[in-house]
Amino acid sequence: MKCQKGDDFTCLRSNNIILGLIQFTRGDMSDDAELTSYDSIVIEDYLEHVERPFSWNNLYERPAVIARLPSLKGKNVLDTGCASGFFTEYALKNGARVTAVDISKVMTERLVARIKSVKLTIFCADISRPMSFLKSNTYDCVICSLVLHYIKDWEPLLAELHRVLKKGGRLVISTHHPFEMYQYLKLPSYYDFKMVEDTWGSSGPRPFKVHYYVRPLKEVLRPIVRSKFNIISIDEPLPTKECKELAPEVYKRLMERPGFLFIVLEK
Ligand SMILES: C[S@@+](CC[C@H](N)C(=O)[O-])C[C@H]1O[C@@H](n2cnc3c(N)ncnc32)[C@H](O)[C@@H]1O
Repeated sequence: MKCQKGDDFTCLRSNNIILGLIQFTRGDMSDDAELTSYDSIVIEDYLEHVERPFSWNNLYERPAVIARLPSLKGKNVLDTGCASGFFTEYALKNGARVTAVDISKVMTERLVARIKSVKLTIFCADISRPMSFLKSNTYDCVICSLVLHYIKDWEPLLAELHRVLKKGGRLVISTHHPFEMYQYLKLPSYYDFKMVEDTWGSSGPRPFKVHYYVRPLKEVLRPIVRSKFNIISIDEPLPTKECKELAPEVYKRLMERPGFLFIVLEK
């Protein structure tokens, strides 16, 4: 694999195929990036937490996102906040060409090493900044799975995602549910809009810290209503039958309180 260095990017090539890992300089990242990027987390700790069979991601979030995706065969898909690449891999397996973006150098490098496909391009970049490396009117579907809560201001990001989607293209979002965050973090006020520090993986060998934004529902909906998107659905889905069979405790909890919020928008 050869690396070609430019002023602000590195392009990885293998057999003259561009794998497209592009690394932007720190100057191109938002002030929050140092905290919200998963580069500060030991990758094995994150994977242990999220990839275990009974994680909320596997039992609840991923099935709910998949249920909201259009057919991906032959389509162009953008996976924003791709992390270890669950949805990137899913879209490739379902016949899509995929562009995956994440701010974390560690996550994108792992993805480059893990999935080698001419149908995959990977960018290491801050999605809260203008994504001039993505062409307008290109994508049939954008997946925004559990990444929006790392970003303070959603309006410029939604405008960018609207720009890169084709007309009729879908944006499928999952994000923390404001009511769940209020209860789980025992916030002083439901109306708090601020960055918080949380500890994940407490049941695993090495708990680790993450930073993300909490906000009330009106601050979730305001940028969406102001955007140029049509709203297709805003959902609080219940856990699946499989979740009940595999993890009754998780099922019980998710039947009482919504875990995440799922939003589908159309250009
Ligand atoms: C919870 S993970 C996403 C999970 C992933 N979609 C999946 O299905 O496995 C959040 C990811 O968002 C990334 N992230 C956080 N802030 C970001 C930003 N401003 N731009 C791009 N990626 C960001 C983190 O580095 C991390 O990899």
